[in-house]
Amino acid sequence: MVFFRQVPSGYFLNINQQPIPNMSCCNITTERPAARNLTKRINAEDKRLLNCRAVDVNQLMPLKYKWAWEHYLNGCANHWMPTEVPMQRDIELWKSNKLTADERQVIMRNLGFFSTAESLVGNNIVLAIFKHITNPEARQYLLRQSFEEAIHTHTFHYICESLALDEREVFNMYHEVNSIRDKDAFEMKLTSDILAPGFSTDTVEGMQRFVKNLVGFYVIMEGIFFYSGFVMMLAFHRQNRMTGVGEQFQYILRDETIHLNFGIDLINGIKAENPELWTAEFRVELQGLIEQAVELEIAYAEDCLPRGILGLNAGMFREYVQHVADRRFERIGLPVKFGAKNPFPWMSETIDLGKEKNFFETRVTEYQTGGSLEW
Ligand SMILES: [Fe+2]
Ligand SMILES: [Fe+2]
Repeated sequence: MVFFRQVPSGYFLNINQQPIPNMSCCNITTERPAARNLTKRINAEDKRLLNCRAVDVNQLMPLKYKWAWEHYLNGCANHWMPTEVPMQRDIELWKSNKLTADERQVIMRNLGFFSTAESLVGNNIVLAIFKHITNPEARQYLLRQSFEEAIHTHTFHYICESLALDEREVFNMYHEVNSIRDKDAFEMKLTSDILAPGFSTDTVEGMQRFVKNLVGFYVIMEGIFFYSGFVMMLAFHRQNRMTGVGEQFQYILRDETIHLNFGIDLINGIKAENPELWTAEFRVELQGLIEQAVELEIAYAEDCLPRGILGLNAGMFREYVQHVADRRFERIGLPVKFGAKNPFPWMSETIDLGKEKNFFETRVTEYQTGGSLEW
């Protein structure tokens, strides 16, 4: 159990919760100012998310983009490992005859999609995004997010191992199952656009291509392509079946909510600093990209659920994916397109899309204590 000690004024708590005097207010210096070159000290206002020339990327402080640091702290407070989740009940159910073939297909398709999608996101951060972001607090978050993506990939190895699944079958679905391959090919094209020889963010066209990658990964991959899977796997969990896998999906959903929020802040921050990139043509291009993604996600849901199970059917996913896409349009300043209702109000209770920014902040201490997750 975590309890919070009363901290006396002028003190902070060290890692063992012991109060330590805060000396930062005392202007103590270890050397004469004349002995140091003060002319190179950075001014936070000179920081920029892209194409920053005035400030080096190695000095985290002073901060300019406090949202990036907040997302980093929230991510750290949510730390978890898949191996902490008990799988015994899942193993018993998986080995029993109490799951239908259609239910097994839903589970397998989602394990197949997520097991490699997490790596695509991690690789896109490390190979395509990180180098071009010229701000240290945003990079600090990207480092944290990359590790979370590694934990998510680890989760699918752990599930395969626990349920004695064929890992080659699961991890190869992104080659072998058309509906998964199509979503991943859509994303991988956006990564290779940034890795193309000569790419830079120096021009408006370059910045647009970079923002298109951010929309493709944060808004589409983590904000649309993951959501049918979340609904399907949390539907099992709601029926008290495959509860270990369901709990892991809840942890992943919570992490992904922060990833999405960071991505939206990053996209909107780059837009604000470079308004020339947000042309009418570029907005139409992004709308088209998201509309294309909605169709890919609906095709994926139809492939997972050819006959409907657990009170879910493919028609409901058309509405749901369109509803989610509308929320994403709103958050990056594009017009709402579909006007669809949410057919899964229980998902709305789980992750109220209108309150994404602070929903999980009320629950971080449950993770800090290592306790079980309750919604
Ligand atoms: Fe992830
Ligand atoms: Fe993510």
